[in-house]
Amino acid sequence: MRTQVAIVGAGPAGLLLGALLHRAGIDNVVLEQRSAEYVLGRIRAGVLEQVAVDLLREAGAAVRMDELGLPHGGFEMAFGDRRLRIDLQALTGKQVMVYGQTEVTRDLMAHRQASGRPTHYEAENVQPHGYDGERPHLSYRHGGSERRLEADFIVGCDGFHGVCRATLPAGALQTFEKVYPFGWLGLLADTPPVNDELIYGHTERGFMLASMRSHERSRYYLQCSLDDKVEQWSDEAFWAEFSRRLPADVAQRLATGPSLEKSIAPLRSFVAEPMRFGRLFLAGDAAHIVPPTGAKGLNLAASDVGLLARALAEYYRGTGPGRSAGIDHYSQQALARVWKAERFSWWFTSLMHRFPENGDFGLRMQQAEFDYLCHSTAAQTVLAENYVGLPLG
Ligand code: FAD
Ligand code: PHB
Repeated sequence: MRTQVAIVGAGPAGLLLGALLHRAGIDNVVLEQRSAEYVLGRIRAGVLEQVAVDLLREAGAAVRMDELGLPHGGFEMAFGDRRLRIDLQALTGKQVMVYGQTEVTRDLMAHRQASGRPTHYEAENVQPHGYDGERPHLSYRHGGSERRLEADFIVGCDGFHGVCRATLPAGALQTFEKVYPFGWLGLLADTPPVNDELIYGHTERGFMLASMRSHERSRYYLQCSLDDKVEQWSDEAFWAEFSRRLPADVAQRLATGPSLEKSIAPLRSFVAEPMRFGRLFLAGDAAHIVPPTGAKGLNLAASDVGLLARALAEYYRGTGPGRSAGIDHYSQQALARVWKAERFSWWFTSLMHRFPENGDFGLRMQQAEFDYLCHSTAAQTVLAENYVGLPLG
């Protein structure tokens, strides 16, 4: 089998890239190691920036999002017993869209099926080859037989644990990593959200986040210990702890119910440089991870593939040697945006979580930072500008 662009991974990065390339008339095949149901079963991000919204529209996969997504013009911060609303709309003129990653993935899957471009789910032992030369290809096992997919380019959209970054030769990449000393315990429930807007809270007992998927479905998070096991957290224990961390007046409105999903995610900052090696590109979580506090993971995946799709379209439209300029700049351009999102996610994580190991001095620094935010429109604008997302460039 032969294609122009071979994509590894059918998460949001792989599927959105496939849709954008299809739009530009570029042939592509997606290989995914899991089943479609498994991919849809993962509950992850919930907030889309304008850039991601625009790319989904450009790809032609935004009809349900435009119908069902919830535009939010602000969010709340609670710090001890103090509250601050960040008015995104007033500070930046922009909003974010609350629409779950599961739904984004579902929409992109349906779009792909309608486009007729192939996706091979349950592809085993996918391996990239020859990307340092002119004839890259992927080998894999599917439906009981060994297959080979030849391509002009390979794109690793295969997430943090994927194969593409892992097969690069030692020394090809420089990596940067910070692991945080806690995780997030998340719970999804069919209960009306406790607040109209998201609430990010710093409490004595740790961080909390009240988010949502719709007017009927809530998504809530608690800072938890890395030693915690999800089985130790009954629904009752979650609700009791969540209620304690909510501001008291908000807690009175909390509606509880059985969980649809509960999971623990570790928090990490990670970047691999560069994001291109010969005819192999990395995009999304395959190249970088942010802690979820800034809601940037899915948005960075979208902006990476937005840049890459543009560069590949330029390459296939062009003729002379200049046609490679976009793909030659992809890594540098994507990384400039990635590092700013890394900085913001690290900063917001550092402000909103409890770090007992930082002692009383660390806590006073967090309190002073929050106090400064409360009294400075400039500081709020910095937060808002980063939260709604920087321009694609
Ligand atoms: P992924 O979604 O990881 O997709 C990669 C795909 O590649 C997967 O389908 C995987 O099965 C496939 N794959 C892997 N290896 C192979 C292989 N060898 N061969 C073929 N296919 C392969 N972000 C937020 O903004 N907010 C959140 O609340 C949030 N919560 C998160 C919770 C968890 C538990 C995790 C893991 C992430 C969370 N994120 C969150 C981050 C966000 O979900 C990711 O940034 C986003 O999924 C990145 O998309 P992606 O397509 O790059 O990678
Ligand atoms: C979510 O709804 O899952 C969500 C929202 C905002 C975040 C992280 C996660 O910062």
